[in-house]
Amino acid sequence: MFEKSIYINRRKKIKNKGLKGIGLFLGNVDSPMNYRDNTFHFRQDSSFLYFFGLDFPGLAAIIDFETGEDFIFGNDVDISDIIWMGPQIPISENGAKVGVEYTYPYAKLFDFVTDALKKERKVHFLPPYRGENQILLEKLTGISVHKVHENASLLLIKAVIDIRSVKAEEEIAEIEKACATGYEMHVTAMRMAQPGVWEQKIAGTIEGIALAGGGMPSFTIILSQNGETLHNHDHSKILKTGNLLLTDAGAESLLHYASDFTRTVPVGGKFTTKQREIYEIVLAANNHATALIKPGITYLSVHLAVAEVIASGLKSLGLMKGDVKEAVRNGAHAMFFPHGLGHMMGLDVHDMEDLGQIYVGYDDETQPVNQFGTAYLRLGKKLQPGFVITNEPGIYFIPALIDKWKTEKINAEFINFSKVDEYRNFGGIRLEDDILVTGTGSKIIGERVPVNPGEIEEIING
Ligand code: GLY
Repeated sequence: MFEKSIYINRRKKIKNKGLKGIGLFLGNVDSPMNYRDNTFHFRQDSSFLYFFGLDFPGLAAIIDFETGEDFIFGNDVDISDIIWMGPQIPISENGAKVGVEYTYPYAKLFDFVTDALKKERKVHFLPPYRGENQILLEKLTGISVHKVHENASLLLIKAVIDIRSVKAEEEIAEIEKACATGYEMHVTAMRMAQPGVWEQKIAGTIEGIALAGGGMPSFTIILSQNGETLHNHDHSKILKTGNLLLTDAGAESLLHYASDFTRTVPVGGKFTTKQREIYEIVLAANNHATALIKPGITYLSVHLAVAEVIASGLKSLGLMKGDVKEAVRNGAHAMFFPHGLGHMMGLDVHDMEDLGQIYVGYDDETQPVNQFGTAYLRLGKKLQPGFVITNEPGIYFIPALIDKWKTEKINAEFINFSKVDEYRNFGGIRLEDDILVTGTGSKIIGERVPVNPGEIEEIING
């Protein structure tokens, strides 16, 4: 964990947000995989980690916004636990590590919350995303399990997002470590992109690299020769020369900060002309976004500028037609680029998505756009120094989507459907880097994963 002054300062920031009452922060518990004692790999709640740093199950914490006091609740182990887990540090010592003086057995949490409610003090909590914490919140507050999500505190949500959005130096250093592991995962996947190799063999090998780095993958690995399926977790096929292999994967650092990269490479190490032409458009789109990213610009405008690069490139290949700006205004590019340019990244790969994307990615000034494609943009608002974001444009040929648009003549004035038919089995290309918004512009975090087509072919060819 970080040194305790970091957690004390983070809590100081939230205490300065003018909230009244108490803030309740629930840690996660172990979740059974197929029976109670066989659990999924434990992952602590990110906001709990951010403010209280302790990375094990069975904890909760309270911040009293009026007295400024912090409390951690958790149980010390008994002899039967010690037999299975070995000796554990007492909860009081764990509290001291993150600058919390008052620690109590877990059951005391109920007394604290009941007492606050009796005194008609506001009990702020964040939206629960796990069933166990939904049930616990019902028990603690009396709010029905079906209603706890909608009763989460908007004031606390906004305060937490405001603080967590801007990454401090030590957080960026953690993200750099996650990126170094991500780099190794992707270069390994490139080297393994040989005909005859089972996709799962590559997915498993790079997952192992994340685990050997001390963290986990930051999300379920996406790896497929059917890269046109945006989140393809089916790794069942054997690699075939002439196909593209899309890998979207990242790692968590030891302290759970994420990386998230995508590369698309030719199986066997040689792009076809058609593949290279589309690849160059996606690469130009990615490079254009990095060049545009700076404080004060909205990510929505960067997304739309990238959509123009894509539309213009597709027009030059005869796949789109008409006025490029008009095509993008009408959302015609979205048949090929049906997702957003990127998202915030930090302790979560989609940072703070549990708190509500609308609050993380948008504000009063920048509202979400309700148009197919751009509607999936998770981050639209003005960028600030210290934001860490992904830059992940792509071009995909999705047969079902092509058929729908062709039949319904959607954006037919901007799409040359007969030419598109020649690309029906192309697959998809996405190129993703992780970017820090600096004081004046942007910086790719870590060493850039090889991205130029020549470099990639060289790596695959050994
Ligand atoms: N890279 C996976 C995602 O952004 O959802």
